[in-house]
Amino acid sequence: MAFPESTSLNLRLEAITPAGPRIKMFRFAATQGEALPPATPGAHLDIEVAPGLVRQYSLVEIDPTGTCYTIAVLRQQQGRGGSMALHDQAKIGAIYKTSAPRNNFPLSATPGESVLFGGGIGVTPLLPMYRALKARGETPHLFYWARTVEDFLYQEELAQDPAVRLLVTTSPSVPRLADLIPQFPAGAHLYCCGPEAMLNAFTDATTGRPAALLHIERFAPTAPTTAEVNTPFTVVLRRSGRTLEIPANKSILEVCLDEGIDAEYSCEEGVCGACQVTVLEGEVAHRDSVAPAAAHDREHTMTICCSRAARSTLVLDL
Ligand code: FES
Repeated sequence: MAFPESTSLNLRLEAITPAGPRIKMFRFAATQGEALPPATPGAHLDIEVAPGLVRQYSLVEIDPTGTCYTIAVLRQQQGRGGSMALHDQAKIGAIYKTSAPRNNFPLSATPGESVLFGGGIGVTPLLPMYRALKARGETPHLFYWARTVEDFLYQEELAQDPAVRLLVTTSPSVPRLADLIPQFPAGAHLYCCGPEAMLNAFTDATTGRPAALLHIERFAPTAPTTAEVNTPFTVVLRRSGRTLEIPANKSILEVCLDEGIDAEYSCEEGVCGACQVTVLEGEVAHRDSVAPAAAHDREHTMTICCSRAARSTLVLDL
C-alpha cells in the first residue's frame, strides 16, 4: 500500500497525549506552520504509520486555526498493527506521510433530529460531528458505549451534557441499540461508528428506515461473501478515452496503474474512499466499506480498488 506522491502531505507529529488506559491522542501539524487542507466533522486521514503500513484514523477535533489534525488511537494488541506502531514507536518530531482529510461520513446538511451512536474508539468521528450539530443550533443526542469509565474520551465535558449518555458496557441493564433506536422518529438522521458487531446491530435495528437517513463509518474491510465470484469485464474511461479489459484476477485500480493511468488510491481494501470515482453507465457490484451499496448507487459512485462490474461493461468518469 502506498500514497500517490501528488496527493500526500508530510506532517510533523507535534504532541502525544494519553487519553485513557489504552488510548493516546496524536496531534500532527504542518512542517512549516502553513495552513493545511480543510477538514470537516467526520473526516479521516490516511496515515503511513510505518513503512508501507497505511491506516485510517478519524479526526477527533477540528482545529479552528486549520494548522493541525488530531486523532485518538486505541492500542489494539490483536489489531492489524497500525495502532501498535503509533503507540509503541511514534516519536514527537517525526514526519509522517498522510493523505489530505477525506470525509466518507459527513453530516447531513439538512437540519433535523440527529442521533449519534458510538462504540469505544468508534466515537472518534462522532465527537466533532456532535459539536458541529450543537454549533448549528441543533439538539443532537449522543449515545457512547465504553468498557470502563476510564475509557470515555472527554469524559468530564460529556458527563455535564444532558443530551449525552455515557454507557458502560459491563453495567447490568445497559441499553442496547435495539432498545434505543425505536425511540426516535423515522425522520431522524442516525449515525453509527463502532466495532463490527455494533454496526451489524445498527443495521438490524434500522431495518425499514429510509436508507438516506442512516450513516455508518467502517474502518475495517468487510469479509467477502461466498457469492462474490470475480469475472472479467470491460471498463471505458470516458475522460482518458481508454477502454480496459479487467481480468478476473485484477481490480480496475490495478489495471489502471499497470496502464499508467493516474488514479488516486490509498488503502486498496475498500475502506478509505480515495479511489472513489463517478459511474457514468453500468451496474456495479459494490464490495467496499466506504458506503452502503444503495448510497453508492444514489450518488453514482464506486471504489475501483475492490468493487467490480455487475454486468459486462462499466463507463467511468476517469
Ligand atoms: S483505495 Fe481505499 S477504498 Fe479504494
